[in-house]
Amino acid sequence: MNDRNASERASRDDDPTSWFEPLYRDTEPDGDGVPWANMETHPSFQQWLSRHDLKGDGQRALVIGCGMGDDAVELASRGFQVTAFDVSESAIGHCRRRFPDAAVEWLVADLFEPPAAWSRRFDFVLEIYTIQSLPPQYEQETTQRIVDLVGAEGRLLVIAIVSDEPRSLEAGPPWLLTPAYIESFQEHGLSMADHFVHTNGSRRGDVWVSTFRRLAP
Ligand SMILES: C[S@@+](CC[C@H](N)C(=O)[O-])C[C@H]1O[C@@H](n2cnc3c(N)ncnc32)[C@H](O)[C@@H]1O
Repeated sequence: MNDRNASERASRDDDPTSWFEPLYRDTEPDGDGVPWANMETHPSFQQWLSRHDLKGDGQRALVIGCGMGDDAVELASRGFQVTAFDVSESAIGHCRRRFPDAAVEWLVADLFEPPAAWSRRFDFVLEIYTIQSLPPQYEQETTQRIVDLVGAEGRLLVIAIVSDEPRSLEAGPPWLLTPAYIESFQEHGLSMADHFVHTNGSRRGDVWVSTFRRLAP
């Protein structure tokens, strides 16, 4: 079963994340089998880092849908206390095996059912390509869940492929974001602090790299 068939079936069955576990279970240690795996810091995150002098100084960071784990390790190397989670147990297994000494708390968790203690807890929240891996009918909940993780004056970095094409179930995966979707984070108590487009040669859209900050209460 290819990714599209698997994810379409999962969406129809109202179980949009069930196709990730088999995919990671069949993945080789070198990442072969995971179409989005970079096996290094994500290139668009790397671009963002080249523009920001990011120092953790012991602040708390959270990586959503951490996949093979490289971006979490990048944040740990910059002095953050990092928690990284993925809905796939096998993905987290890969992370633990790849980075046994990393100062990262690796957890199996579902963005749709986060631990209560995570509410507004993190100083830096990193979201790369998870939103677009979820069908459009989960859009509102996904946004709300992500925003709720950002602490007082904390930052959220969203890296996503954006296009003007309508977000229909048939269009994905991935279900690319729209400019309006990116804007919508500002309707939830965050303001956009920084934004740039990282042209990646994709035929469907460009990578938007958008930083939000929670406004002081
Ligand atoms: C397209 S991949 C991107 C992975 C990683 N961020 C990267 O850029 O390589 C989306 C990831 O989100 C995870 N994921 C999807 N839905 C999730 C959910 N509800 N909770 C936690 N992780 C989820 C998937 O297992 C997958 O690892």
